[in-house]
Amino acid sequence: MSNIQLINLKVMGDDRGSLISLEQNKNIPFDIKRIYYIFDTQHGVARGFHAHYDLEQVAICMKGSVTFLIDDGLIQERVTLSSPDIGLHIKGLKWREMHDFSDDCVLMVVASELYDEADYIRDYDQFLKEVSNANSCTQ
Ligand code: TYD
Repeated sequence: MSNIQLINLKVMGDDRGSLISLEQNKNIPFDIKRIYYIFDTQHGVARGFHAHYDLEQVAICMKGSVTFLIDDGLIQERVTLSSPDIGLHIKGLKWREMHDFSDDCVLMVVASELYDEADYIRDYDQFLKEVSNANSCTQ
């Protein structure tokens, strides 16, 4: 099964333009505790390079485009987000990287927990160990 889980967000449009509403436990599949956004990303900069122990996120590219790499420790998949009506749902032990930000990219992330540096796995080898531990627990 692919680790790229996309959510189609319903666009409510009329002759004035478009509107999307995000609601916890409806189109966003968790309680929303935090929202942050990334913009003015400098040329050639890639971000992320971490996993989380306990965090669910939906990333929505409000403007411009950005390419995500999602890695579950076995397979690496890429997806380019370039539309405000698509959410990338990231859940579980997944290494993520964000590449190729367009100059005008505004990337909004809706998260299930408050910011907590202790929840980050920033070392790739540590991430692989955590994946291996998690798999041995489920076997
Ligand atoms: P970081 O998570 O490393 O950014 P990215 O994964 O997008 O590359 O965060 C960058 C800095 O911002 C870091 O010092 C932590 C801080 N930060 C917060 O204080 N709150 C937040 O919600 C986030 C996402 C980051």
